[in-house]
Amino acid sequence: MNGNTAQGAYVPRPEHHFTFGLWTVGSMGRDPFGDPVRPGFTPVRIVEKLAELGAYGVNLHDNDLVPRDATPAERDRIVKEFKAALDATGMKVPMATTNLFGDPVFRDGAFTSNDARVRAYALQKTMAAIDLGVELGAQPYVFWGGREGSETNAAKDGRTALGWFRDCMNYLCEYVIAQGYDLRFALEPKPNEPRGDIYLPTIGHMLAFVYTLDHPDMVGLNPEVAHDQMAGLDFSHGVAQALDAGKLFHIDLNGQVPGRYDQDFRFGADNPRSAFFLVKLLEDAGWPGMRHFDAHAYRTEDEQGVWDFAAGCMRTYLILKEKAAQFRADPEIQQLLGELRQRAAGERPVFSAESMQALKLRSFDLPAMRAQGYGYERLDQLTTELLLGVR
Ligand code: GCO
Ligand code: MN
Ligand code: MN
Repeated sequence: MNGNTAQGAYVPRPEHHFTFGLWTVGSMGRDPFGDPVRPGFTPVRIVEKLAELGAYGVNLHDNDLVPRDATPAERDRIVKEFKAALDATGMKVPMATTNLFGDPVFRDGAFTSNDARVRAYALQKTMAAIDLGVELGAQPYVFWGGREGSETNAAKDGRTALGWFRDCMNYLCEYVIAQGYDLRFALEPKPNEPRGDIYLPTIGHMLAFVYTLDHPDMVGLNPEVAHDQMAGLDFSHGVAQALDAGKLFHIDLNGQVPGRYDQDFRFGADNPRSAFFLVKLLEDAGWPGMRHFDAHAYRTEDEQGVWDFAAGCMRTYLILKEKAAQFRADPEIQQLLGELRQRAAGERPVFSAESMQALKLRSFDLPAMRAQGYGYERLDQLTTELLLGVR
């Protein structure tokens, strides 16, 4: 392939819908063992720099933009300056969320805290943050229940906690309806960190919970690569299930080696192969949502390293998107898939008295069925070679 063309194809542009959280590139590199290593950037600087790099927008927690103790006048000034930066760059705010984990008041969770006052305060804080999100044009509004969990099950019955969580989600759906907002919610599952265990730990748990709410149509998911990989799961399977249910409202892309601490690496840094299957799934599905990177630059990095990190996330996505197109166009791969499709073709099992009788009487060539392989070794090797750049 012509080098220049290939380089050009990997340049991010707003129409690719890449977004970053203010908290991602803004991370100062603090970890449980060490102090911040970078000064961080103002929200305005982040907007300007990400626009320059070709991103579509930024996402935020209420307190990424407006400090917890800001007066109403300070809040209005900060939001005004931020909006001016958005207007000047054309950047959007497609998603907003609430910080319900940083303040010590949330040490036992927000919506699932054992303290009823904390649960009420969490609702109050979230309503204000929803107002801010709507003011900035966000859609959807994300809930990551980072501290909605426990270290000891002696303190709380999981059923009670889920009931409290449900009450809060129902309350907030009613709030959105009462305000006349056009806003949907996306719940983000995570198995652990910062709590020992977090309620609703996987995509499957979360999906089942959505259908117990009063307005399930208003609520979907925001799955994250790292969170499923922390649980040792295949992320693209979970995303496929969310897509199948029409519940993929948003997605958090990053990198995570299973069995390690919560790494939030650059997209594709850990496992380009699973990143490829994810990109392929999203692109094959024509999923229209934002490609949001919820990741951090390595703690080793200075400012330049942070922008290298951000550019790398987007570039890797675009490279993998091109690989997915190559996969679809590869004659050998497509021939193998064509054979599989032929083999997969057959009548859908629709139950009727006749189909049941026919199926009961049908005879199968079991020796042949037992003996025939599926050719996946060849298909997978071709995929590997395509990813390694020798096809
Ligand atoms: C994490 C989470 C968060 C959320 C964010 C937006 O592991 O810390 O992924 O980054 O996505 O709070 O809801
Ligand atoms: Mn995460
Ligand atoms: Mn996330």
